[in-house]
Amino acid sequence: MAALPASSTGRLSLTADASTARSDPAAPTPDRTATLRERLRRDTRTEHEALDARFAGMFAEPGLPRYRNFLAMNLAAHRAIEPVLAVSPLVGLGWSPDGRLEALEQDAADLDLEVETAAFPLDAPSRAEAFGMAYVLEGSRLGARFMAKALQPTHDGPRNAMPVAYLEVSSDPAPFRTLLTAMADAGLSEDEETRSILAADETFRFFRKILDRGEARAAAHQGVASR
Ligand code: HEM
Repeated sequence: MAALPASSTGRLSLTADASTARSDPAAPTPDRTATLRERLRRDTRTEHEALDARFAGMFAEPGLPRYRNFLAMNLAAHRAIEPVLAVSPLVGLGWSPDGRLEALEQDAADLDLEVETAAFPLDAPSRAEAFGMAYVLEGSRLGARFMAKALQPTHDGPRNAMPVAYLEVSSDPAPFRTLLTAMADAGLSEDEETRSILAADETFRFFRKILDRGEARAAAHQGVASR
């Protein structure tokens, strides 16, 4: 496993072992009555909401600049995470690549997006960690379904002339369901579940870090252009 940097928020760190993490007051609370999916949803809510908030109202903006940032963020993240999952214990066990990365490449090429290269901090995740990473990647399909609807052409003409290959592929919730079934069948121990949640939280933060850098770069470009 690669040495992991401390988390950007200092809240959780994948470098801590699961027992250390449990003694951290900010660490996820073990709850054996909840399913792993329920724990993941609950314990990553703060990170998920922080990310969603960055895109609130994005479809109402002329030119959809934040939709461009959204695609760039997703492309950089999928480029970093899919190859890691593709050699993880999850292959053949609830996760396989299904064209989302290619769809993102297509949307980015259509918009001539500048996309940074980022390395995901966990390069050889355990099965439990890979479940957490894949949960974030595949769960984002649920939000994408809402977004695809917002960009659908209206009866009186196209609402937005924006590429939607990624949102369309992502609108299929089946791979997320497959993953959740595999996760439930895996029978992870309490420590493994905690590991999984830590990895999911780290994955959300990774998306946000990429977004921060992308927005800073876009702002710098705008500053240069308006001089
Ligand atoms: C504009 C940005 C986003 C919006 C508006 C959004 C919205 C949503 C919505 C409405 C759901 C469905 C909740 C439900 O059915 O109960 C959802 C689920 C989810 N989204 Fe997002 N999302 C956004 C971005 C993201 C991103 C970028 C990721 C991943 C990095 C992500 C990860 C997830 C996950 C993991 C779930 C599944 C939660 C669960 O039910 O277990 N979302 N999102």
